[in-house]
Formats: sequence, C-alpha cells, structure tokens
Amino acid sequence: MTASVLLASNRGPVSWFEGPTGGLQVRRGGGGLVSALGTLELGDEVHWVCAALTDADRRAVRTRVVDLPGVTVLDVDEVTFERAYNGVANGLLWFTAHLLWSTPTAPTFDDRTRREWDSFSTYSRAFAEALAVHASPGATVLVQDYHLSLVPRLLRARRPDLRIGHFSHTPWAPPEYFRLLPDGIADGVLRGLLGADSVGFHSPRWADAFARCCVEILGASYDGSALTLDGRRTSVDVHPLGVDADELRVRAAEPDVQTRLAVLREQVGDRQLLLRVDRTELSKNIVRGLKAYRELLHRFPEHRERVVHLAFAYPSRHDLPEYREYTGAVQRLARELNEEFATDTWLPVHLEVKDDYARSLAAMTLADVVLVNPLRDGMNLVAKEAPVLSERGLSLVLSREAGAADELGEWAHLVGPLDVSATAEALHEALISTNRAERTAELVKAATALPPAAWLQSQLAALRR
Ligand code: G6P
Repeated sequence: MTASVLLASNRGPVSWFEGPTGGLQVRRGGGGLVSALGTLELGDEVHWVCAALTDADRRAVRTRVVDLPGVTVLDVDEVTFERAYNGVANGLLWFTAHLLWSTPTAPTFDDRTRREWDSFSTYSRAFAEALAVHASPGATVLVQDYHLSLVPRLLRARRPDLRIGHFSHTPWAPPEYFRLLPDGIADGVLRGLLGADSVGFHSPRWADAFARCCVEILGASYDGSALTLDGRRTSVDVHPLGVDADELRVRAAEPDVQTRLAVLREQVGDRQLLLRVDRTELSKNIVRGLKAYRELLHRFPEHRERVVHLAFAYPSRHDLPEYREYTGAVQRLARELNEEFATDTWLPVHLEVKDDYARSLAAMTLADVVLVNPLRDGMNLVAKEAPVLSERGLSLVLSREAGAADELGEWAHLVGPLDVSATAEALHEALISTNRAERTAELVKAATALPPAAWLQSQLAALRR
C-alpha cells in the first residue's frame, strides 16, 4: 500500500513502554510536533515514517506487537541511532542552530565526529528508503526538523517524481556561525535541505539566515523567495505555527486538569503566580530566569511574599552530559533562592521536574505572569498556549530571540535573554501591569492565527504551487 501524503520525523506519533506485567504497551508520542502533525488522519492516504527511539520501541518493531496502519517505525540499530541522535542531531546541529557553543572549549571535531556523521548518514538513508517505498507516484512528502536534514536530497535521488518539503522547527544560525561546523557537515546539511522543493521555517529571521548560509557557503543564488543551486530551485517559506484555541480549552476542561487546578489554587492562595514551563533545555535559559527572579526580590522587595514562582522544568536529553549538568545548576539555584528568601509562610520558588502536562495546562489557566526567556527558540508554543488558557488575563515576559516574538512582541514585555537585570525589571513591570486583559486578547489573536491544521495545509499548499 502506498500513500499520497507522507510525514517523516525522528519522534513519531506513538511510543512503547513496558507495562506493569512486563508486556509492551503503546502510548501517544510526546512533543509539539506530534500535536501539530496529528491533525492528519493516518491510514491508506497518509503515512508517517519515524524512528524507534528506545529499547521498548525497537522490541515492539522486532516482535511486531502492534501493526499500526499508516505508521512505519524504523528499527535503526542502537549504536547508529545513538550516534545520529545524540551525536549529530542534538550534539551538533541543535547546538549550532541555537548558538550554544562555548567556543574556547567546545566543540572539537575529530574521529568521533566522523564516526557520528557516518551513522547520521546511515540513519538518514533508512528514512529515505522507507519513504521511497511507501510513496505513491507524485506523492507529497513533509520532512520535519534538523534530525532529517539530509533526507530531502537522499529521497530525491531515489524518487525524482515526489514533491518534497522540509520544515525546521529550530532557529537557523547565521553563516559565520554555521561555518564553525566541519566543511563536509555544513555543506552536507545545506545540500541535503536543498534537495527539497520547499524549505519552511517558523520565522522570517531563520529563513533569511538559512538563505544566507546557502549563498555564502554553497554559492547558491537567492531572489528573496527561492534559492537556486545547480539549476534546481527550492522555495524558502515561512509558516509560523500557532495553537488551536478550541482544542486547547477543551483539553483544559478535562477532569485531570481541573483536579490540578484546585491543588494549585490552594498552593498559590491570594499571591500572584509567576510561571514558566519548559523542558530542561540549555536554550531555554532557565538559570538566568531564576537569577532574574532573585534580582526582582532584591530590587523590588514589595513583591516578597506577594508572588509565587512555579518553575516547571521537565527532563530532556539526559544522555548528553551538558543537559545533566544544566539540570543540576537549575536545582541548585532554586534551592539557594529558597534558602535566601523563604519565610515561615512563603516558599518563593516551587521547582517541579516531573513532567505533568495536565498540571502545566492548569498553571497556565491561573498564571498572572508567564516567563518565556529562551536564548533562542524556533517558535515557543508556551508563549502562545498560556494567553489562550488564561482565566483573568496575564502578562507575558518574552525573549526577543524566540520566533514567537515576531507575532507576540507588540503585546509582550520583550527582553534580551542574557540581560538578567532587564528581565528582573520586565518581571516587575509585568507584575504591576494593569492592562492585562487587553494585552491578552491581542496575544490570543496572534497566537491562534495559524493553528496546526492550517499550518500543515499551508505547507502542502506551498508544495503544490
Ligand atoms: C524540539 C524539536 C523537536 C523535538 C523536541 C523534543 O522541539 O524541534 O523535533 O522532538 O524538541 O526533543 P526530543 O529530543 O525529546 O525529541
């Protein structure tokens, strides 16, 4: 059976885990990508190719515990997957896209980099081959994110009849930074993506940086809307993903969210709630967020005992040592802050590291101020979800380096993410702001402009043009 629309992403729509009795059970895959792509119904017409991420996934594929219609889970061997996912995708490409290197000490490219890059190529070929097998003649293929940068070119070589789109959910680095990658890798990634008919980004800033990389590093030409290299044209498109207000509100009305809402109301009492919700991700800048809160309590003592900071920092990518160290730094700082300021009746920071989606939604409903201060972010959906769920209206303190700032900036308190003092001042302004309802209404309008179903359709439309 072949399909006319295909999706490809590293993390797929389902994952497996070992149930209480030792058998494998299936659950919906995590992450925003799944929600966005999940608006298409999988089956005969639509097929999704993804990778087995865990031992349980690999076992499920090998033993064929569940055959899901419209889904192919690739069983890439563990070592190859580990090198491709941790080594190249998260260890190299993510760091580059988010400008995360501490260049005096890292990175160093050596034999290990070459081994990891070889594995990344093997992993990418597995995707290209599976897509080539499952695509009907002239089918449309939507390839998602940096993990699959090489796939468009590999797939085109196998199936020139297909219409191929690639979408990057991350930012893109400017050429002088992207060039820090070894030449073969920088070149391979850019050429890989130019195998697509259309490359998409959340923000014109990332689209522009990508185009400049292709011009300066590959010698491609750019007319402001499409790149041409070796006679082939690739259009450069911007589709800023938004949220589906109805779906989000229906989800937030469910009993699990309502139960948590009652607990949070009790916890916060009549104080103001300052909220952040993130993966414990280096680019999310959680440490500086806590430092800004500490500075707020020093410089504006009127907020002491009047505000509670809920910091939800959920585990992420713990195979990478940088992420384990970062989690430790976040926990230490939260502890120090509480030691410095707590009173008998007030705990200034509640740091929660256990992932609980229902609790996140409940906290967004209740928040007075939401802090979203990433160093750099492709979009950031928390900045869009929180205003939609807000009960009484909220103030958004938002990093200007998030893609979301393009659309929300006018009604948010914008900050430079490295500037802890400016962030502390913005938090103060946000806590004393009196026009939250008006601003929130505008934030909601902007946040819901392109909900997931429309976002997906706009990618398909760009490919059919
Ligand atoms: C970002 C990426 C997604 C990724 C998600 C979670 O949002 O753009 O592609 O799935 O982070 O990361 P993980 O490594 O857990 O899949």
